[in-house]
Amino acid sequence: MGYKNTESSFGSVTKILHWTIAFCFLISYCSAYYGLWFTEDETYVNTIVIQIHQATGIVAAALVAVRVAWRLTSVLPNPPLASWYEHLAARVVHAALYGVMIMMPVTGYFGTRRDTAFLGITRFDYTSTWTSIEHAFDISWDRFEAPLDYFHRDLGGPAIVWILIAIHIVGALYHHYHRRDDTLTRMLPTRR
Ligand code: HEM
Ligand code: HEM
Repeated sequence: MGYKNTESSFGSVTKILHWTIAFCFLISYCSAYYGLWFTEDETYVNTIVIQIHQATGIVAAALVAVRVAWRLTSVLPNPPLASWYEHLAARVVHAALYGVMIMMPVTGYFGTRRDTAFLGITRFDYTSTWTSIEHAFDISWDRFEAPLDYFHRDLGGPAIVWILIAIHIVGALYHHYHRRDDTLTRMLPTRR
């Protein structure tokens, strides 16, 4: 398996980015809900869990930036045989996934005033970012934070993101078990 995509399969760079970002999303979800459901606010465990959440989200954002650049400069494997509306559905879901892969870390980062400093992986001092935004746009924290928080904590996290991922996984399994084509296997790490 080469590092570049070919007309018949994804290369190792695309695969590594796809599965590492998927793993970051899994950890982001587990840590967000572990923190919300099983810990008390402001306790030691709660702080660590939220730091894990923020750090994996920021790592995901960095990888998504690389992935978008790689995607724009790569060939794509030929799409599987399917009707026009299946192609359209796949394109819409993929585009929406790229959208949330960008929007979740952005709204998460700008929608909180917590600093992110987990095990030295990420070290973001929010205060200086916020001070620059406050001066540039002359806006109060409450007005600035409300729409970001709404997207991150009311719309994206609890609904849009996991529904999109679920549709995406069902689509991959449909191709594998019903259509019996190589849509799923050419994204798997083991395929040569
Ligand atoms: C992979 C990207 C991300 C995903 C999928 C994600 C998802 C979520 C989810 C599902 C929640 C719980 C929503 C609820 O309240 O019901 C949440 C909360 C939160 N997220 Fe994210 N998030 C991501 C990235 C980030 C980033 C990069 C930051 C900040 C640097 C961040 C900061 C927060 C904060 C502060 C909360 C509230 C936690 C609490 O107070 O208990 N998130 N996120
Ligand atoms: C068990 C989980 C997952 C499976 C089985 C899976 C499977 C796949 C497969 C087979 C493809 C190739 C589709 C094609 O050739 O048209 C693909 C592409 C893609 N996946 Fe996943 N995926 C999973 C999780 C995720 C997650 C969590 C995300 C985002 C957060 C994601 C985002 C994407 C995107 C954006 C593409 C389109 C790639 C492109 O055209 O640039 N996937 N996935």
